[in-house]
Amino acid sequence: AKILALHGPNLNLLGVREPDIYGRETLADINAALAEQAQAAGHELGWYQSNAEHELIGRIHQARDDQTALIVFNPGAFTHTSIALRDALAAVAIPFIEVHLSNVHAREPFRRHSYLADIAVGVIGGFGSDSYRLALDAAIRRLARADA
Ligand code: DQA
Repeated sequence: AKILALHGPNLNLLGVREPDIYGRETLADINAALAEQAQAAGHELGWYQSNAEHELIGRIHQARDDQTALIVFNPGAFTHTSIALRDALAAVAIPFIEVHLSNVHAREPFRRHSYLADIAVGVIGGFGSDSYRLALDAAIRRLARADA
């Protein structure tokens, strides 16, 4: 099936940006590892990053047309602000897993609230780039159950 790794604002700076919080792996490293992990399980992973809310919304709309089965989504700071992204995900009704590199509950209080978490399949955070790998593993297991 088609899986989309979707990355929100500032995640293009991974590896450079606050490495003590977000780690030293770049987004390209992460996407390459995810593509390999998906392929090994017989799936196809695409990825997209944008710093702009409307572009992320557009990519979510496109995911409905291109038959994306599941989205692994790190919405970055839009997690804590965006009703529009929530509405887009609800509109396309594609299951998604919310991912964070950092443990958002161990940081500033404003990071504790997510506009997306309650409509996500699940939320994984706090494991650095492994958060993505764990989310993709959960996605692959879920897709296997859906096929059965
Ligand atoms: C983040 C956590 C958000 O609070 C923050 O705004 C980010 C990254 C994470 O992956 O830990 O940009 O989503």
